[in-house]
Amino acid sequence: MILVTGGTGYIGSHVVVELLQAGHRVAILDDLSNSEVSVVERIEQITHQRVAFYHGDVRDVELLATIFQTHAIEAVIHCAGLKAVGESVVNPLAYYDANVYGAIALCRAMASANVKRLIFSSSATVYGVEATPPYCETMGRGSCTSPYGSSKAMVEKLLEDLGSSDPEWSVTILRYFNPIGAHPSGMIGESPQGIPNNLMPYISQVAAGVLPELLVYGSDYPTPDGTCVRDYLHVVDLAKGHQMALKSLLQPGIKHYNLGTGQGVSVKQMIEAFTQATQVPVPYRFAPRRSGDIAAFWASAEKARRELGWQANKHLHEMMVDTWRWQQYIAQR
Ligand code: WQD
Repeated sequence: MILVTGGTGYIGSHVVVELLQAGHRVAILDDLSNSEVSVVERIEQITHQRVAFYHGDVRDVELLATIFQTHAIEAVIHCAGLKAVGESVVNPLAYYDANVYGAIALCRAMASANVKRLIFSSSATVYGVEATPPYCETMGRGSCTSPYGSSKAMVEKLLEDLGSSDPEWSVTILRYFNPIGAHPSGMIGESPQGIPNNLMPYISQVAAGVLPELLVYGSDYPTPDGTCVRDYLHVVDLAKGHQMALKSLLQPGIKHYNLGTGQGVSVKQMIEAFTQATQVPVPYRFAPRRSGDIAAFWASAEKARRELGWQANKHLHEMMVDTWRWQQYIAQR
């Protein structure tokens, strides 16, 4: 059985679906702070499989011990954490507590249960502001612009140190680029609370008329059309990357993989792609740059292809269609 922390969240729920569909049994630990318990039922409807669900915090060492005593856990995929960049600037202690202490508590419980195989949800943000694209795993970590980013970099470092201290650990760090889209069933996706911070949910809420217009942050970046460039990948491709990374845990040691498409897409191209795929216009206006934004970055996706046999297969069109289907599902609830 695989334990997925944060398994009812946006990424975690898609990871659980892919694991179940690949024949794994799954337990979820989630505190439901940014998700709903009904996600468990929806996962079960999509996959026609049952999931063992635990409502709780990853820092709850007693609950973790119970989970490890109850189930024969082969590996843990650690997706639980706080992820709003702006909020992390306002409340850094909450971010370091949930993300850094959360990882420490989990690793301690794993070590006590002698479960030493871990996949960690990290972020391309750890490459920092100095890196030049494409970002490659051979580059070091750079300076992060937010406590959120620093918390991911710190956990990477602590996992590397843990791996050096005890060669029985197998740790695979997955650095996500910009996951978007939703499950093609239309039953799970991202449901940001309040006004979204990220581009894709913002676009879909403007298109749905929930928000009046999109502000495009910056039109004078040194990019082909002046707007920022990112590497957007479909969340189902990202989730498959986790399932394929499980085999990397069979050899002890620490590994890092980028999960991205290897292609940069600008904010303007994203708006155009959405309208082309859905025929729904997205009113937008240019606004000043958002502080902390980097002009352009995308992944080198070669290492994951070479070593895991993984590559992103879904195109921008599918990301847009699936996002829009999910937006309509949310609107009907
Ligand atoms: C993408 C582009 C914005 C909103 C962040 C984190 C990263 C990861 C994903 C976690 C940028 C522009 C956005 C809007 C806009 N974190 N934009 N108008 O900043 O690349 O990555 O989220 O879970 O670690 O750093 O993603 O979607 O916020 O922005 O013009 O209303 O869209 O300026 O260029 P980002 P994003």
